[in-house]
Amino acid sequence: MSQLSAAIVLAAGEGKRMHSSTPKVLHPVCGVPLLGHVLSTVSHLSPAQTTVVIGHGKVRVQNYLTSEFKNVHTAIQEKQNGTGHAVQTALASMKEFKGLVLIISGDTPLISPESLKDLIKVAHQNKAAVLTAILDNPDGYGRVVRNGENVTKIVEDKDASASEKLIQEINTGVYIFDVQSLNETIKNLNSKNSQNELYLTDVVELMTKNNINVGIVKCEDSTEALGVNDRAQLATSQQIMQQRINEHWMQKGVTMRNPDSVVIDITAEFEQDVFIDSNCHLLGNTRIAKGVQIGPDTMLKDCVVGENSHLLRTTANDAKIGANAEIGPYTYLRPGTILEDGTKAGAYVEIKNSVIGKGSKVPHLSYVGDATIGEGTNIGAATVFVNYDGEKKHHTVVGDNVRIGSDTMLVAPVTIGDGAYTAAGSVITEDVPSGALGVERTKQRNIAGWVERKRANSKSADSARRAQRNK
Ligand code: UD1
Ligand code: CA
Repeated sequence: MSQLSAAIVLAAGEGKRMHSSTPKVLHPVCGVPLLGHVLSTVSHLSPAQTTVVIGHGKVRVQNYLTSEFKNVHTAIQEKQNGTGHAVQTALASMKEFKGLVLIISGDTPLISPESLKDLIKVAHQNKAAVLTAILDNPDGYGRVVRNGENVTKIVEDKDASASEKLIQEINTGVYIFDVQSLNETIKNLNSKNSQNELYLTDVVELMTKNNINVGIVKCEDSTEALGVNDRAQLATSQQIMQQRINEHWMQKGVTMRNPDSVVIDITAEFEQDVFIDSNCHLLGNTRIAKGVQIGPDTMLKDCVVGENSHLLRTTANDAKIGANAEIGPYTYLRPGTILEDGTKAGAYVEIKNSVIGKGSKVPHLSYVGDATIGEGTNIGAATVFVNYDGEKKHHTVVGDNVRIGSDTMLVAPVTIGDGAYTAAGSVITEDVPSGALGVERTKQRNIAGWVERKRANSKSADSARRAQRNK
């Protein structure tokens, strides 16, 4: 099978029905903009050139393409006069092309590469082919008027007669044409229709009248056809794609207790025997190794987690967690957190921009910011790494096998040497040498009889008197 000469992706429309300041094709589904899904699908067919037609919000769309799809070309459609006009705009910059050109909308993220491959086969036989689907509710889509195996014309929902509206076979907005036939036909489009636009769909009728057969490939899975024109369709496409992604990972050996409650971006990856409990979001470039248990109620974005670690009720962003780590519940790991193998970050612990060495533990109620902690160290409950002086952030270094007493304030910049201790409740502003105990507390004094004198009529005083009597 010969390759495609070119692909044209239509992405210049505003997407009025989205009511958004963001161009429609940049709205994300499963972590990637609509346009990104379409371009990834197209790339499976390796067209010699891909041209994206941009117009509305073109600077933002161009910026996205520059950062994620460097090799695509763009054609600018200054005024959006319809899908036919968009393709004319693209073709104007592609004069030298011969062979087959794929045309696809930037707002149909669920089309599969397999359907496109089937379409190429039919296009080879006919010089033109349209991808269709049968929908229970075809409202809003162009209807496919057939003559046996071929299309006679496509009629837009807004222009369809009552009997045409009953047709359930719809145009997915994906076509393959022989470039030469397309060039000869597309110049004859007119805008005599309810939207006063040049419809690409009218090319089909013009070709048929010129005795060019337009073949049909029907999507086996009709959910592929969904076009995103409004927020409800955006949510539906998220739902369908999410189900596909979750099923994919279950097939690869991931257990999900309640798959409907698990949100996984298309960019996240898992090894086998990962267990995902209810209500988890695994986003961005998250990578989860074998045997990890996640959730319930955990959200990880751009995180790496090593083998057999457990994360319970954890929120983490851009954090790296080693193997056999215990995280949670109610733990917040912010960018730059590195938890090495066998570490623990327990309940109500927040960590950012810090390295926690092998086997070290931050079990309860602590804030660790801008720190380097060695191996085998324990950070007592309610310790705060005081990293901010009101103007600048400073770094703290804690060595190996250190014992930081509960409620220690480590005022940065400060260094605690290997094997050192700090006494509970100390505010540490000076370095503690290796093996030393850092204490910063006034000596305790007890004022005898204070309660009976100052709070004479209180329950506390009654209890104190009773204790005195019973002595
Ligand atoms: C289009 C088809 C319809 C099909 C449906 C499938 C036409 C006339 N209609 O309708 O038959 O069932 O897709 O989803 O083609 N665009 C441009 N420039 C323009 C207008 C649109 O680049 O001037 C782009 C849009 O950004 C979008 C795509 O073309 O990505 C489709 O446009 P849209 O307005 O969504 O067409 P539909 O009404 O959905
Ligand atoms: Ca559409």
